[in-house]
Amino acid sequence: MRVLSGIQPSGSLHLGNYFGMMQKMIDYQRQEDLFCFIANYHAQTTVSDGKALARGTLKAAANFLALGLDPEKSTFWVQSDVPEVQELTWILSNFTPMGLLERCHSYKDKVAQGIKPNHGLFAYPVLMTADILLFQSDRVPVGKDQKQHLEVARDIANKFNNEYGDIFTIPEPEIDDEVAIIPGLDGRKMSKSYGNTIDLFLEEKALRKQVMRIVTAPIPVEEPKDPDACNVYKIYRLFLSKEEDEALRARYRAGGLGFGELKQELFEKIRDTFAPYAERRRELLANPERIRDALRRGAEKARQVANRTMRKVRKKTGLVY
Ligand code: TYM
Repeated sequence: MRVLSGIQPSGSLHLGNYFGMMQKMIDYQRQEDLFCFIANYHAQTTVSDGKALARGTLKAAANFLALGLDPEKSTFWVQSDVPEVQELTWILSNFTPMGLLERCHSYKDKVAQGIKPNHGLFAYPVLMTADILLFQSDRVPVGKDQKQHLEVARDIANKFNNEYGDIFTIPEPEIDDEVAIIPGLDGRKMSKSYGNTIDLFLEEKALRKQVMRIVTAPIPVEEPKDPDACNVYKIYRLFLSKEEDEALRARYRAGGLGFGELKQELFEKIRDTFAPYAERRRELLANPERIRDALRRGAEKARQVANRTMRKVRKKTGLVY
């Protein structure tokens, strides 16, 4: 089974990305044909500083590699190193009704946040569709915020296949309820654009500061509390085994648990969980040629698959004459 997903290299990496997508992807490489990429073309819809994008791309790659993605066991590349994806985007545009894109929440949300409504932002889901279809992906693990984009991809794939025969695999989204929407500091979806993230690779002091900002209700320490109504719990539980989770829930219900104490515990948990990876990430970033090397080899592998698809698409659509 081919499993594919991508991440934008804009901004820092947060727990929403990690639990919503990366952890699953890294698990998949053991038994499935994993395709994983850094979506730098997509990031151009919001990042206009070229140097920042280039730096962000290397960092995003370092993040994945440090967290355990093995470029020998998977296909790992940067989106723009496989330019066939742009060719396919154009071809798929002709199978994309305007209404389909006009309905996309993500576009409307971004415009509401003040991002300029240009064509790139509007056509974003078509490029994402090309990412998925180019590699004949069976399954796409994502957070819930990408659900509609996956529906768009399936729609476009079906339209194209109806016209030209079974060229594309119809992708299945994989959105686990447990981690579909990781909440942020204020309980809304954790998102860079809400400024409510907890980031993976922060200096200790900055990480502690983020955790201490988690919004909690003014309930006296001695009173019993409802874990399911608590933002600290909603994040803490992601790190716990079933038994540990039960034990924490019991502490909530017993009373005597202060949010300050709990936040300190959570801070230590996050720090200790990611500290070994942070060390590897530092080593990788001190040696960017090694990262570039892995990405170059990944792009070669990805391009072979892309070209297999594109040969069929070009022929069917009349570009081979
Ligand atoms: P991006 O870079 O915004 O996010 C990467 C992944 O993290 C997930 N995610 C979350 N999951 C749960 N809770 C959260 N709070 C949370 N925040 C982020 C996202 O759902 C995503 O899976 N358009 C995509 C990148 C992309 C892509 C693709 C994905 C480009 N082409 C093809 C799959 C297939 C994006 O911007 O993800």
